[in-house]
Amino acid sequence: MDNLKQAREKIAKLKEELQAVIVAHNYQRPEVQDVADFTGDSLELARKCVGIEAEVIVFCGVRFMAETAAILNPASTVLLSYPDAGCPLADTIDIGSLRQWKHRYPDAAVVAYINTTAAIKAESDICCTSANGVEIVNMVPNGEILFVPDRNLGHYVSTKVGKKIVLYHGFCYVHDSVTVEQVMLARQRYPQAKVLVHPECRPEVINLADAALSTSQMLRYTRESSCKIFLIGTEEGMLYPLRKQNPEKEFHSIVKNFICTDMKKTTLETIVEVMQARGNVVTVPEEISVKAKQAIDKMLAIP
Ligand code: 13P
Ligand code: SF4
Repeated sequence: MDNLKQAREKIAKLKEELQAVIVAHNYQRPEVQDVADFTGDSLELARKCVGIEAEVIVFCGVRFMAETAAILNPASTVLLSYPDAGCPLADTIDIGSLRQWKHRYPDAAVVAYINTTAAIKAESDICCTSANGVEIVNMVPNGEILFVPDRNLGHYVSTKVGKKIVLYHGFCYVHDSVTVEQVMLARQRYPQAKVLVHPECRPEVINLADAALSTSQMLRYTRESSCKIFLIGTEEGMLYPLRKQNPEKEFHSIVKNFICTDMKKTTLETIVEVMQARGNVVTVPEEISVKAKQAIDKMLAIP
């Protein structure tokens, strides 16, 4: 019996024992996505976690996602699939900097990308994801917005709305590394292809793309498009659900080894370990959780 098969069997048994539901982000390894009950982008997974009725949610992703699940579903115990799977982008802003910034712009609303710690969400007016940033900023009554922490997503949103958006200087090292040259080279190789990039990419890269989309929006776009070849500008785990959903279409990564190391820390073995130990329980202190939930709930109230 091969290792993967053994691990899958152990996970199935542990799921019953723990009354667990497994959720996985679209960037997870293929075999991890395959054992999940639900996969999706940050917004879909947050919505899904609200309604899960299970003793345990095993979150295969990174810490801010598991924290969001714990905030939204206090009745379940949330286990993160690898102890220190974090998001370096989320760690680019701390509470002290955010408070100073709020002090400088007293009339601005703080819109926090979901890729933030619970403590940052708790200090923010509303959350957004890469799927709904434009809608959220439009919906906020203030004319001035402090957008934290991703400068690229914030810039992308600013090109779509008529508001003053003050950008924080954070960025995702994975998406920010894509260059104009890489996109142009990929386009030369596949001139008929549509180029889809994540809004965490740099503005000049987004300008060259046919669309800037969240990971699940990419799934929708490619399903509905009559185009047969796509160049993908996001973490390469995304190629798995794209190819699975569209076996007749071609998908190529714009960048070789387009990998978020934290997203790749989870394996079937780490899931087994976490479930066996009932370890890596993600909790958020009550006073932070209550406030962060307000910012997340405001976002989720938008259909
Ligand atoms: P999505 O919400 O588009 O899946 O993105 C999450 C993320 O971490 C992007 O790097
Ligand atoms: Fe964070 Fe970037 Fe990894 Fe997404 S891809 S989890 S933003 S470091």
